Amino acid sequence: MRAIRVATFGGPEVLQVKTDVTIPQPADNEVLVNIKAAGVNPVETYIRAGVYKRLPPLPFTPGSDGAGVVDKVGSKVKRFKPGDRVFLCQTVSGSYAEYGTVNECYTHPLTAALDFKQGAALGVPYFTAYRALCIKAKIQSGHSLLIHGASGSVGIACIQLARSRGLTVYGTAGSQDGLDLIKKLGVHHAFNHREEGYEKRIMETSKDKGVDCIVEMLSNVNLQKDLDMVSVNGTIVVIGSRGNVEISPRSIMAKEANILGVMLWNSSEEEMQETVREVVKGTESGELVPVIGKEYTLEEASQAHFDIVNTKSSTGRLVLIP
Ligand SMILES: NC(=O)c1ccc[n+]([C@@H]2O[C@H](COP(=O)([O-])OP(=O)(O)OC[C@H]3O[C@@H](n4cnc5c(N)ncnc54)[C@H](OP(=O)(O)O)[C@@H]3O)[C@@H](O)[C@H]2O)c1
Repeated sequence: MRAIRVATFGGPEVLQVKTDVTIPQPADNEVLVNIKAAGVNPVETYIRAGVYKRLPPLPFTPGSDGAGVVDKVGSKVKRFKPGDRVFLCQTVSGSYAEYGTVNECYTHPLTAALDFKQGAALGVPYFTAYRALCIKAKIQSGHSLLIHGASGSVGIACIQLARSRGLTVYGTAGSQDGLDLIKKLGVHHAFNHREEGYEKRIMETSKDKGVDCIVEMLSNVNLQKDLDMVSVNGTIVVIGSRGNVEISPRSIMAKEANILGVMLWNSSEEEMQETVREVVKGTESGELVPVIGKEYTLEEASQAHFDIVNTKSSTGRLVLIP
């Protein structure tokens, strides 16, 4: 089969297409999926570069998320059969490939309303958004939420989840296309995080009370701004960070703020079951509908890795079509 193989950690150019990779065979508890689309997550660029805490042994095929059709199942698999449409989160053999093996517990039914590209955009982004908002921040109807970085994949998932649960949603994007998208998705108040003074406008919109909860995609840039914008007793959820930041602990005191971290892979089995159940339910009710930013061929995987880190105008998930 065709697949991306990484033989050495490094820049985007280490993502090499190979055409003679052996199709993996599913173990007893695994499903073999013919992958029609793979989602590209920022974490895969950190892993490829060799700077992430958990690294796979070399050589490897990258990719956690994908969607496709079940080709074969292991002898102990109960919930799936060949021909089923599924989406995946955390593959065994990597999703940047024509076929991949996945543990049955990380294989989920893909509703007919979503295509494979949308299915590939569900796993990490929607599961993380659910963990941040519902398991960690415990959002409540009537509360206000700022999604700092709403135009990317996790941000879009947060918009849709928050709207489905009755919150007043503030969101930021870094371009006009991003702003148009998040408004279309139902953000009540949209701001450009590249515009001077947008924090002041967020405060004015909240009548200087601040927002009850903030989910943060770039904490190394924004954590102090968040402490300034969160309401008294409010909550900041750190989802993404690409470096260090200096903050004033005095603002944490003054706001009696809660700062929570999220790491999807820390989910307990029960939390993951709840997360999957609620996300699948949301896709079936039509409340959760992933948005695709751009699609790439396997040959363009290096470009996709470059773009996901360097773009200043996110408009949804980048996907690879194997
Ligand atoms: N903790 C976890 O378990 C977990 C799980 C998934 C993802 N993450 C992390 O969460 C982050 C977002 O992931 P993603 O998949 O949504 O990435 P993505 O699709 O690339 O989106 C990135 C978002 O960050 C925004 N952004 C850029 N500069 C910003 C700034 N100065 N202030 C606020 N937002 C800014 C982008 O907006 P523009 O492009 O419009 O400027 C875009 O909305 C990444 O750092 C990722 O590694 C963590």
